[in-house]
Amino acid sequence: MSPYEKLQSELKSSPRHWLVTGCGGFIGSNLLEQLLKLNQRVTGLDNFSTGYNKNLAEVQSLVTPEQWTRFQFVKGDICDVDACKIACENVDLVLHQAALGSVPASMEYPIRSHQSNVDGFLNILTAARDAKVKRFVYASSSAIYGDDPELPKVEEKIGRPLSPYAAHKWMNEIYAEVYARAYAFESIGLRYFNVFGPRQDPDGAYAAVIPKWLASLIKTEPIYINGDGETSRDFCFINNVVQANLLAATTQQPGAANRAYNVAVGERTTLNQLFGFLNEGLRKRDPNLPDQKPVYREFRAGDVRHSLASVDKAKAFLGYQPTHSTQAGLESALDWYLAHV
Ligand SMILES: NC(=O)c1ccc[n+]([C@@H]2O[C@H](COP(=O)([O-])OP(=O)(O)OC[C@H]3O[C@@H](n4cnc5c(N)ncnc54)[C@H](O)[C@@H]3O)[C@@H](O)[C@H]2O)c1
Repeated sequence: MSPYEKLQSELKSSPRHWLVTGCGGFIGSNLLEQLLKLNQRVTGLDNFSTGYNKNLAEVQSLVTPEQWTRFQFVKGDICDVDACKIACENVDLVLHQAALGSVPASMEYPIRSHQSNVDGFLNILTAARDAKVKRFVYASSSAIYGDDPELPKVEEKIGRPLSPYAAHKWMNEIYAEVYARAYAFESIGLRYFNVFGPRQDPDGAYAAVIPKWLASLIKTEPIYINGDGETSRDFCFINNVVQANLLAATTQQPGAANRAYNVAVGERTTLNQLFGFLNEGLRKRDPNLPDQKPVYREFRAGDVRHSLASVDKAKAFLGYQPTHSTQAGLESALDWYLAHV
């Protein structure tokens, strides 16, 4: 039995009360779904700035009516101190996902992103500390590796941030560390590497590459690759991210708390390879789709060239064992997008 399998049966027999911020978004709604399936009590907080009520409706359709009664939704903003206090009431564990999660959006609107990503972070961190929450797990990002060219990325060595968003996530880690030192408040940061899967938003100017390309391929709209297509990423399926969150929230391994972990698969895929896989995968499922070719354009400011994680620390300290390779995750994502776009 893997540590995650063990944890799931333990949670079922001894349920906790969780707060998931950003529960209307992609990652938050997947966390909500899994927690409710494990019969947990969940409070969700979201202001629907980039998330949707339809994501909550989909989760409702995937759990039993009884599991859904264990969910309480607070519509509110993490920039509002009172909303954070209300959301943290009687909560055991926090999974903080709410943020404006786009690098290009932070380049265009650095002050607005800072308010949610740094001020909002501090509000919810403080509310969780005041509510005596047992552990605060928060979404950091691979963006904090910045201009450090070394691969694979190991947690101790970060570069200089290349975007306001990267600076925000770095500040989150600094605040979390300070709260551990100054107030003995336990947290764990999870540096996600290009997460993808069901309910990731394919629309809007700041959509992530996989949902955006899948939607464009299905609608036979042009696909743009920023740069030469040899830019690479460690694309991580959502189920692996859910696993890392639940393990981080509950690990009792000595030395595991108050640090940040890479959450990825440890596989590198170039944009050209990704395009080929998505194009072929969709055409296998729907032979009426044409064989499409991407349009290459300028590199995008603020993007890092290559990204690949070492997940050794998450394996050693959290018992993290990714269940989905990038390819297996893409197969699941293809099915979901074909059914939903
Ligand atoms: N998706 C990825 O590949 C990835 C990679 C690295 C880090 N992250 C981080 O993971 C977290 C979740 O990202 P996601 O991909 O699910 O994005 P998402 O946009 O789908 O979800 C974010 C959710 O937070 C909510 N939100 C934003 N600002 C808020 C505020 N001020 N108050 C209350 N709610 C607010 C949004 O409405 C949305 O529902 C973010 O912190 C993001 O920075 C994501």
